[in-house]
Amino acid sequence: VNNGLALTPPMGWLTWERFRCNTDCTNDPDNCISENLIKAMADHIVADGYKDVGYEYVCIDDCWPTKERGPDGRLVPDPDRFPSGMKALADYVHGKGLKLGIYEDFGHYTCGGYPGSEFYLKTDAQTFADWGIDLLKFDTCNSNHEDFTYGFPAMEFFLNQTGRPILFSCEWPHGESSSNFSAIRDTCNIWRTGADVQDSWDSVFGIIDFYANNKDNFSYYSGPGGWADPDMLVVGDFGLSYEQERTQFGMWAMFASPLLMSVDLRNIRNESKALLQNKNILAINQDPMGKQATLKMKMEDDNIYVFTRPLTNNRIAAAFVNKNNNGMPTRLTIKGSDVGLSNQNGYNVVDGFTAQSMGSFLPTSDIVVNVNPSGIVLFVATPK
Ligand code: GLA
Repeated sequence: VNNGLALTPPMGWLTWERFRCNTDCTNDPDNCISENLIKAMADHIVADGYKDVGYEYVCIDDCWPTKERGPDGRLVPDPDRFPSGMKALADYVHGKGLKLGIYEDFGHYTCGGYPGSEFYLKTDAQTFADWGIDLLKFDTCNSNHEDFTYGFPAMEFFLNQTGRPILFSCEWPHGESSSNFSAIRDTCNIWRTGADVQDSWDSVFGIIDFYANNKDNFSYYSGPGGWADPDMLVVGDFGLSYEQERTQFGMWAMFASPLLMSVDLRNIRNESKALLQNKNILAINQDPMGKQATLKMKMEDDNIYVFTRPLTNNRIAAAFVNKNNNGMPTRLTIKGSDVGLSNQNGYNVVDGFTAQSMGSFLPTSDIVVNVNPSGIVLFVATPK
């Protein structure tokens, strides 16, 4: 949507994948959905260098309010878990130079069974603006899908009317490839394209596969102001190997995806933290042209997926993903022209993660890559 926000893919942190709907602050005070958790993450985003590389939105997902609206019809943050209230929490987050995101649902109830925005779109938009909210994730549980085409634009209208810039994160397509993506782009700053990401290689590769097979739908509409959202990064959690974390992070950069971490920043492994702060990969993700990668070809009996993404200054990023998560690295040889290197003077090619030179190649040159099991090789080619 044309509201001046998300000119490059938004970056931040979101509670859901890692902390879910943990409301048990009595027995699990450090991990429940609460103002303390949000403050702790905001502190780490600043102190540990995430803010310096661009992470900005700290977002609360489902399960933050009381089960009933207040007498004035407004949503009420759970008083035990958010005793200071949302306005104070927003002030805290803003004081750190960050932005605060919140979650609601278009239907009668949220997915977790909390009050939805049905019949309250205008009230909720105003409440969020009054609190100082900067991003709204708007879900689709317990609603009629036929209503999305007027309901989501209505919510964007009410958000806009508050006068506060609020990034609108939609689940409108709801995984339905037949959705009206042009209307979605006109309404939303980011839109979830499919199933919830889980902390596993099957889930992460499944999303990459989904994008490979739906390349035109998603790549056509993504660009400054509106981005297809393959869901959160699970880098630093429990289910991915280091190779798989590199693959998720590298491909989310290739896809020009929102980068919303969902990880406990208080005890993340150093190598995962370094990956999330890799400036070379972040520069690909944030490339101002905002062109999403598309599938170029599959190789080796469809076990290797090759994606390319045009970058500013006629550069090209190419990524090779190995679907297999066992065995030995796959060694393959391609011609420069196979991944779109057409400049007759050739290209300087560097590794996308390390920026180390991989050599100089012509369209007719052979390029050899070794792709580790469930790993990625990503390079950036700059024309001479
Ligand atoms: C849905 C969404 C998730 C999360 C949960 C919360 O499943 O897709 O991202 O917001 O609801 O209940």
